[in-house]
Amino acid sequence: MPYCRNCGAELEDNDRFCAKCGSPADQAVSGAAQSSPSKKQKKPKNTGLIITIISLSLVLVSVLAVAGVYIVQNTDLIPSGNYSSKKDRDDDDDKDDKDKDDDDDDDDDKKPVVIKPGSNSITVGISMPTKDLQRWNQDGDYLKKELEAYGYEVDLEYAANDVATQLSQVENMIDSGCDLLIIAAIEGSSLGEALDMAEQMNIPVIAYDRLLMENDTVDYYVTFDNYMVGTIQGQYIVDTLNLDNVSGSFTIEFTAGDPGDNNALFFYIGAMDVLNPYIDSGKLVCVSGQTDFSDVATASWKTENAQSRAETVLNAYYADGTNIDAWLCPNDSTALGVENALEYCYFGSYPIITGQDCDISNIKNMLAGKQSMSVFKDTRTLAQRVALMADQILQGQTVEVNDTETYDNGKKVVPAFLCEPTLVTSSNYIEILVDSGYYTEDQLTG
Ligand code: BGC
Repeated sequence: MPYCRNCGAELEDNDRFCAKCGSPADQAVSGAAQSSPSKKQKKPKNTGLIITIISLSLVLVSVLAVAGVYIVQNTDLIPSGNYSSKKDRDDDDDKDDKDKDDDDDDDDDKKPVVIKPGSNSITVGISMPTKDLQRWNQDGDYLKKELEAYGYEVDLEYAANDVATQLSQVENMIDSGCDLLIIAAIEGSSLGEALDMAEQMNIPVIAYDRLLMENDTVDYYVTFDNYMVGTIQGQYIVDTLNLDNVSGSFTIEFTAGDPGDNNALFFYIGAMDVLNPYIDSGKLVCVSGQTDFSDVATASWKTENAQSRAETVLNAYYADGTNIDAWLCPNDSTALGVENALEYCYFGSYPIITGQDCDISNIKNMLAGKQSMSVFKDTRTLAQRVALMADQILQGQTVEVNDTETYDNGKKVVPAFLCEPTLVTSSNYIEILVDSGYYTEDQLTG
């Protein structure tokens, strides 16, 4: 039985027009082809819906595919290649990312290393405190060379011992897209804003020689064993005065380093742990009575500040001809200040004077009998160790440390690598400083 193609009404075989809608009977279709008019009307609607759904699905799949290609192409958005996440670096064994994300105490877990957008090169920012002291110039030069040998670009800045300058230099390094920061702070607690920025940008931070304080962004610390530096100085005084074997007492004065530098306290505590028993027993006598760190500290490690306090002490307590047997100085810049003061304001027999860094002018003074010792901290060793650590971080390898207990910065115990310092005197300076190629003999004697 045919049906009207237009309205679906049943037609007689010989109808020329549909009795219901008047459409020509040539628009009729046979019953085999169409089960019911209503279905016929619905069919185009269903087809449209399905086509619409299929189209939408295709659009969605395309959008997802394009987004995926974008992310893969923009490798700066994800840790890639050798750049594993900090999560992976810090805890290779722990595969449970959720647990790690939940661990609020371990901030390192939140920081993947990222490559600077739009660049294949990797830049390391180095912030040094000052060019005024010889050692920081050497530190900067060696460190730059070592990092360049690994293939990294280096942005090396000196901050003229000015905290605000250092802060803005570090912020600029971050703004310019550096990939890792190495910072020798002028004042350990004053770079909080820059460190927070580094944290937001997922930039790893290594504290160089001086610990960065009161901030959990700092990832690692490389330094010399600062406490040991102090014990070497203290023990030198004990041995040279032969305190364990001779009778009588000896006079001593103390100078310490910059209170803003965490190292200064370590040096002082190291030395005092050795010397205190002799002070307690009366073998060593501090005539000025000034033994507290805060009384003997030297702002900014400056030679002139150490000199001015030494002059005050000498004028107040030694003008009557009292001898000084030893003067503990934490480093060469402060030793130089005390040596200058002795030259102007002291007329007794020359005391033992300690130092640290083996700066050229201090080795010269040592050879002239004005300084007894210095502690050598080979900046080549430090630079090599820091460059290796930077490379281990950037390549997502296990980062080597040898101390995970000592350096609490107030927010976290910072994993550290401590290098070993060496005692230098006029008896071994050739072997340690000249034969090793650190200085030429001409530099020390010329
Ligand atoms: C360093 C010493 C240096 C002193 C003054 C300390 O943090 O460890 O080597 O003599 O700063 O620059």
